Amino acid sequence: MKLAVLLCSALAVCHGAEVKQSRKFPNYFVFGVGTAAYQIEGAWNEDGKGENIWDYLTHTNPSAIVDQSNGDIACDSYHNYKRDIEMLRELGVSVYRFSVSWSRILPEGLSYYINEAGITYYNNLIDELLKYNIQPMITIYHWDLPQRLQELGGFMNPLIADWFEDYARIVFKTFGDRVKFFATFNEPSEICSGYGSLGKAPMLNETGFGDYLCARNLLLAHAKAYHLYNDEFRPTQGGVIGFILAVSSTEPLTDSEEDKFAVELYSQATWGIYTDPIYSKEGGFPKELVERVAAKSAAQGYSRSRLPDFSEEEKAFILGTSDFFGVNHYSGSYVSQTLYTSQHAIPSALDDIEMGTYAPDEWLQSASSWFQLMPNSVHIFLKLINARYPGVRIYITENGWSSREGIVDEDRVNYYRSALEGVLDALDEGINVHGYLAWSLMDNFEWMAGYSERFGLYEVDFNDPNRTRTPRKSAFIYKNIMKTRMVDHDYEPESYVMTIDEGH
Ligand SMILES: *[C@@H]1O[C@H](CO)[C@@H](O)[C@H](O)[C@H]1NC(C)=O
Ligand SMILES: *[C@@H]1O[C@H](CO)[C@@H](O)[C@H](O)[C@H]1NC(C)=O
Repeated sequence: MKLAVLLCSALAVCHGAEVKQSRKFPNYFVFGVGTAAYQIEGAWNEDGKGENIWDYLTHTNPSAIVDQSNGDIACDSYHNYKRDIEMLRELGVSVYRFSVSWSRILPEGLSYYINEAGITYYNNLIDELLKYNIQPMITIYHWDLPQRLQELGGFMNPLIADWFEDYARIVFKTFGDRVKFFATFNEPSEICSGYGSLGKAPMLNETGFGDYLCARNLLLAHAKAYHLYNDEFRPTQGGVIGFILAVSSTEPLTDSEEDKFAVELYSQATWGIYTDPIYSKEGGFPKELVERVAAKSAAQGYSRSRLPDFSEEEKAFILGTSDFFGVNHYSGSYVSQTLYTSQHAIPSALDDIEMGTYAPDEWLQSASSWFQLMPNSVHIFLKLINARYPGVRIYITENGWSSREGIVDEDRVNYYRSALEGVLDALDEGINVHGYLAWSLMDNFEWMAGYSERFGLYEVDFNDPNRTRTPRKSAFIYKNIMKTRMVDHDYEPESYVMTIDEGH
């Protein structure tokens, strides 16, 4: 029995093994799907919406996007949101995670002028979700900063904390009577990569500076919004509010102490920098990372560390400011200092840690260059989080597979099945996972990859003005998993016609 379990998890997919067939997700565990405003809404300049950094980037520098596309129309969810909710009912989800577009509500980013049409759009969306008993989860910021605020420095200006607090106040005040599940920021590492590299808007490429400054200011903005909710809104609204990180799975390349330390330092640089200030015992940035960047900065002749530390007062202000650990997970790799190649800019975060990663060729490659399927990846990253912050309450807020255009998606089907087996493995070990939100409800604008990489349970026809959505096989498989609360590897849909089950 024990051996069977070990073998199954080593192979990631355990086809039909009796030991696993009977495992059920507990009653408290919630299932859902997620999307983000810029990736789906379109209507980029309709009804008073202001310009954001992705509108600006895609319009002024279209060649930065693989297929020169943009989110001007995207899935046109601004006009099709009722169809989106019909799809949620077809799937039978209990939670829908979407983000609110800052510049749709505050066209200039600042709170002196509120665009009522933007408020109406989200009110309609929320009311329609509640009509069908679907719990809304709002991501307050999913990468689409108002362009006006970018011109004032964006996340490199410490005033971002005040601007974000003002915006969050409007979100809580306007939607918090009905929405009880909030996340402040989605994937700060990607937000800040727009300052420390060319990886995302606004593509500032201030390597080894902009990313660290952004991390610091973003954490203070998060903490301000958390305290605002906690002090002024929670007493009457009674919801929860958290923070959403991207965590990939990592294992040391060898058993050496150096490689084990490499995994630790890599975790500190890629997610601990955002999570230790909130969830660790002492607060503040991770110790070894702080020492490393300080030493590197000194050796490079700087009189101060490029990673500016928090004051004791700021540390205390940030510590404990999250009701749950929201985590997005995709790829995995082996990590080692021996894999480091000196091809990174100096200074830069990658040069600071001197680390390399490795994904064997045998691992299945998704349509995204950065995303390979590490065996047992979901179980591994959940163990990493739980080891760092024992007992922390985890929601997987994004997870899914990327493919090319097309309706056939056997790889995605296999991905979801093995990912959810990984969640069950973690639950068996007592890891405190409370929910799973698949990414994504439908194909959408995949940032720098445009429409060339597809993550949808539903395919979207971007050549059709109606943006017709068609369920892929994975939609039927995920629906069955949610309905039975089990992963049945032998389940095949009776037909490929979607219907809404009773009660949805
Ligand atoms: C980005 O910045 C680094 C220096 O930190 C530089 O080497 C590189 O050429 C820059 N890239 C672009 C496209 O400007
Ligand atoms: C788009 O929707 C309109 C209105 O429902 C319909 O008349 C038209 O046939 C649709 N077009 C396509 C290509 O599905």
